[in-house]
Amino acid sequence: MSKSNPPKILIVDDEPVNLRILGSMLQQKGLDVGFASSAAQALESLEYRIPDLFLLDVMMPNVDGYELALKLRSLPATENIPIIFISALDDTDSKIKGFDSGGADYISKPFNPREVAARVFSQLELKEYRDNLEEKVKEQVLEIETITMTLVEVLENANYYRDDETGLHIRRVKEFSKQLAFYLDIPEQKKREIARYSSLHDIGKIGVPDSILRKPDKLTPEEFKIIQQHPVIGHRILDKETIPETAKNIVLYHHEKWDGSGYPHQLKNNEIPIEAQIVAMADVYDALRSRRIYKPPYSAEHAEKIIIENAETHFNPDLVRIFIRVKGEFATIMETYKEAIE
Ligand SMILES: [Fe+2]
Repeated sequence: MSKSNPPKILIVDDEPVNLRILGSMLQQKGLDVGFASSAAQALESLEYRIPDLFLLDVMMPNVDGYELALKLRSLPATENIPIIFISALDDTDSKIKGFDSGGADYISKPFNPREVAARVFSQLELKEYRDNLEEKVKEQVLEIETITMTLVEVLENANYYRDDETGLHIRRVKEFSKQLAFYLDIPEQKKREIARYSSLHDIGKIGVPDSILRKPDKLTPEEFKIIQQHPVIGHRILDKETIPETAKNIVLYHHEKWDGSGYPHQLKNNEIPIEAQIVAMADVYDALRSRRIYKPPYSAEHAEKIIIENAETHFNPDLVRIFIRVKGEFATIMETYKEAIE
């Protein structure tokens, strides 16, 4: 074992003599041995000492070894700690019951001390290997998460260079979207993806010519058609198998409207993925509250009124109900991430 501290074992047996024999034998092998004479005592000891392995007697009064094993499997602190049963019952059914109760190994009495030690060490090695593997997987997941976040930021940066919108607009849309997603009955994973990818909604504007994107005057119908291509361009940019659907849906469908009058695909009602419905509302609220060449920034009340009036036409009425709950947070977000010069 490569650990600097000796591995900890807990032996649970109602026979003091067994505790003594097993205990001294494992102590001689350099292990840190704890003792409990009942299931209750074993559970109590977990308050101050979590072992690396349990050695459980099967036949004990009150709560037997099988029951104790099931209990240990159900506790977060001990669910992955190996259990070895030691029992005088050496029939197949008893052994199978041991494995069914979450045992990693089963030793029949009378036992050979050397065999017990060999099996204990083999389980401890397996546990150490598993722990290291888990640690590595966790590190790798974190690394992938960091790379993903960085790439999202890189794409956001690319977008700033082309678009007149500021980083604050992107930040606000992200924060609004998180608020709406929080109160929706959707999986946590979906909520995380919405928080992560909502900032990319306008990435397709990279592909819209400057003469249109930065035109100070009103757009002609032809120019408006070209700008309406940005969801499709954005979708093309993200069209890789490993990019989550949530990201692609946000980019492609954030200009669809509940009544089917949006673009680019005139989707209706819940044909529009929920993530795109959310970002659409966040984006519209931000546009209402911001200065545009054709309008001044609207007050929170004015913007709220417009969103509420557009339930059933632009927005999912259920989402509007959530908006009414969180509109106060929206106003706070607007204040927190406001532009320096209006
Ligand atoms: Fe857009």
